[in-house]
This record gives sequence, structure tokens and C-alpha cells, in this order.
Amino acid sequence: MSKVQEQYEVFPYPERDPKDEKKRLVTGSPSHPLEIDHFVFGGKRDWSKPLRALVAGGGTGDALIQLAQVLSSVNRPYEITYIDLSSASRQIAEKRAGIRGLKNINFVTGSLLDVAEFGLFDYIDCCGVLHHLPEPQLGFDALAAALAPRGGLGFMVYAPYGRNGVYPLQEAFSQLLDGLSPENQLAQAKKIFRALPDGHPFKRNPHLDDYNQSDAGFFDLLLHSQDRPYTVRDITEALNHAGLGLVSFTQPALYDPSPLLPDGCLAPEDRTDAMEIAEKLRGTIKTHVGYATRIAQAPDALAKHSDPNQIPHMKGVNPQALAREVASKGQLRVVLGADKTILKIPKNAAPLLAQVDGRKSLGLIAKTVELDQFSFNAQWGPAAKALAGYGLLLYSRLLV
Ligand SMILES: C[S@@+](CC[C@H](N)C(=O)[O-])C[C@H]1O[C@@H](n2cnc3c(N)ncnc32)[C@H](O)[C@@H]1O
Repeated sequence: MSKVQEQYEVFPYPERDPKDEKKRLVTGSPSHPLEIDHFVFGGKRDWSKPLRALVAGGGTGDALIQLAQVLSSVNRPYEITYIDLSSASRQIAEKRAGIRGLKNINFVTGSLLDVAEFGLFDYIDCCGVLHHLPEPQLGFDALAAALAPRGGLGFMVYAPYGRNGVYPLQEAFSQLLDGLSPENQLAQAKKIFRALPDGHPFKRNPHLDDYNQSDAGFFDLLLHSQDRPYTVRDITEALNHAGLGLVSFTQPALYDPSPLLPDGCLAPEDRTDAMEIAEKLRGTIKTHVGYATRIAQAPDALAKHSDPNQIPHMKGVNPQALAREVASKGQLRVVLGADKTILKIPKNAAPLLAQVDGRKSLGLIAKTVELDQFSFNAQWGPAAKALAGYGLLLYSRLLV
């Protein structure tokens, strides 16, 4: 058994108690169906057709449960294959699905490198896994080969700068504690951690919190035996090598350097160059979360704000409350981990935002507020771009 497999047998990640399924649904990115539609299917997927999905390295089941539960709740057909090296993680994921009565899930204990035998998938989730493979590129390539021709990948990989302080500790713990059982490594590392000076870059990094929430979280962050972060350039290249193109990160505004630059200092024109500058200037991005499709389809995969047939949804924001905030202040406060930012949203967009209900198209909203399409676009566009920049607005036909 590899060290990585041993870790996740002893410390399934993230730590989850199946009983909690009775109280709450864990949601997140990637892999909410609204996001999948917005970033992979141009906001226009026909959800009456079954979604064939793979959750690669599914762990204790967060993405699997979110995807299966959201689709079940709105009576949309799906078939999901879950695969993970860790049978302990699989047992937890299976129990969670069982408590919720979720059907059409094929649970597999095995490596994502062998997914070819399960056929092609419309959608693949791979969150927090590829950076733990001994040869990550083989993982990117295997997943790309398992994508159906018009399919897409939702991914999360670690990013270097926001994880400042993590890697020297991982190296030191590995040198000191290699050969101990995972339980003993954890006990010793926690003692050493307590003795670290307050000025250690890890202790000064406000963006890292997982390690103090559970033993599995501490182990995953600081005792992992295989963990390589990706810059935006690294992830773009790894995707391209596999024949995939980046559609977008889920919060594309974070990758735009322009708001950080003074007049006369221009961002590079090339998208990857610009994103690379933004990543370096921000210094706080600890994971890259995004969607990819085959290279040729990537430019058209993202939903368009100007199409009257698009059906907008808000994610994590109540449209009525948002509309009130915009009407009174012309802005919205967005919290991003340890950072906060103010989104400027023109006040004239408030009545439009109040109409968003996941069912009305942009065309119908324009009619309801009695605006011709041209005037509507002029009011909707800037607000929609600002909100979509932080993943707060998505287009999808999930509910119609
Ligand atoms: C950090 S956890 C992430 C779990 C889950 N994707 C999530 O985001 O909650 C990494 C998972 O990847 C699994 N894993 C690592 N290498 C794998 C491989 N080659 N094939 C399948 N699963 C793998 C581990 O067993 C572990 O459950």
C-alpha cells in the first residue's frame, strides 16, 4: 500500500459523520450542477437527458453527495461512478448516500488512472486529488481520455502562494517522522507544531484553517507525503498537455490583475500571462478551482451574459436581499477567505436582479421590467459581469 493510500485509510478526508446528512447538505465548488451547466455546457444543458458523471478521488463523498442530491431533488436523471483508492473513505461516502436514499451510484475502490474501463463521462469531478499523484500528468491524461466528446472536467488543485508556510513544514515533518505510523506522525507533529514560533510564515498565513478543524485536516495539510502545488501556468499547461483547455476558474475576477494596477501600467494581453501576474500580486490564492473541456470547445463552453435565452441563478446570495443592497448602496461586500472586497454594481440593475429566480430567462426578465433588449443588456451586463467574476451568478436550465 502506498503512503498516500495508507493516509486516507487511516484519516479519510475530509472528516465527515454520515449522521450529519440528516441536518445539512455540504455544497461547494466544483460540481454544483448550476456551475457545471454554466462553465461546461454554456448554460444550456438539457437536464432531461441523464448526466453520466465520474467523481475521481471522491474521498468521503462531498462532491458525490452534492451532485446526486441536487439532481435528485429536482428529479433530473443521472448515473455517477465514484472511485477512490481508500476503502475507508468509500465506506463513509456510501453511508452518506445511503442515509439520503441516493440511487444510481456505482462505488469503486481503485485508482483514477484506471477509469478507462468505465466508459466515457459527460462530467468528471476531480477535487484535491491530482496534486497528490506520484505523476499527476498521468492523472490529467487519464481523466481527459475518459471525457465524452462534449464533456467537461471540474477540478481543484493546490496553488503555491496562498499556501505559504506549508511546504517547509511538510518537508521538516517528513524528514523527522518518516517511518512512524500515521497516528504517531500526527501525535509528534502536533507537539512540534505547538513549539513553532509565532513568526513562522505558516502561523502568519490567515488563509489556512483546515488543519485546526480535524486530525484528517492536520494530516492532509502538513503531513502529506505527496503534494505539489500548481501555479496558473502549471495548471494551464497540464490541462493543455492532456488535450484540455481551461474554460474559466470559478472566481475569474481573482485572476484579473487590472484592478491592482495603476494608470499607465497595463496587464499583459495573453490570458495566462495576465493570470500569472494576478496570482503573484494577490499572493493569497491557495487553490485553483475551475472547469476545462477539450481545447477546441473551451472558448464556447462558458455561458454568455448577452443571450436572452439564458436563465440566471444566484449562488449563495438571495436575489431579493442582493437587489435591496444594490438599490441602496450600489455595491456588495464579498468575503474571500481572509480578504474582503467591494463589488461595484450599478443601482439601475437592482430591479433586474430582483427578478432572478432560476426559471425566468433574461428575455423574460427584460419584458417584466419593460426594457427593450438593448437597454436591458446595458443595465444587466455590468452587474452580471461583476457578480459572475466571483461565482455569484450562474446560468443554467436545471429547473426548466
Ligand atoms: C484530499 S482528498 C479529496 C477528497 C474529495 N475529492 C474532496 O474534495 O472532498 C484526496 C482523495 O484522493 C484519493 N486518491 C489519491 N490518489 C488517488 C488515485 N490515484 N485514484 C483514486 N483516488 C485517489 C485519496 O484516497 C483521497 O480520498
